[in-house]
Amino acid sequence: MRLLVVCLGNICRSPMAEGALRARLDASALAGRVQVDSAGTGDWHLGQPPDRRAIACAAGHGVDLGSLRARQLQRQDFDAFDWILCADEANLRDAARLATATQRERLALYLPWSGGQGERAIPDPYTGGSDHFEQVWSLVDAAAERTVARLLHHADSGIIGS
Ligand code: 4NP
Repeated sequence: MRLLVVCLGNICRSPMAEGALRARLDASALAGRVQVDSAGTGDWHLGQPPDRRAIACAAGHGVDLGSLRARQLQRQDFDAFDWILCADEANLRDAARLATATQRERLALYLPWSGGQGERAIPDPYTGGSDHFEQVWSLVDAAAERTVARLLHHADSGIIGS
């Protein structure tokens, strides 16, 4: 199973989601069985590490984002990943432009895809303060926890029985 989390810049939300997901997966029975990456629909921050506020927030929760580098979503990602999971509706629209109709079936908003009953979008913290980053962390960590449960319990994960 290969999961790609997508936001706009790939320096705030999706690296935080990637780190939270890795940490939850590593602590689960799925350790080593799920590939996780992140990308941005935009190209402003290519090659850059995550925003220092994202790094600090994740570090406060025991997760190191320092080695991640921003990259842009590409058409080939739809072949390389099983699910492309977007932070918000704008990311979903932009990502859909790169996908064929069939590939769009594996494109989703991350929070509802993970089974979240609350917010549908992860709010962009880029122009906000550290409290906005903490809010993003609580959303992506809860989504990571639900994702582990989803992959463990749903046969469509390709993990059950493999
Ligand atoms: P992200 O946040 O999409 O969560 O990485 C942003 C980062 C950079 C910009 C916008 C959002 N930007 O406009 O440069």
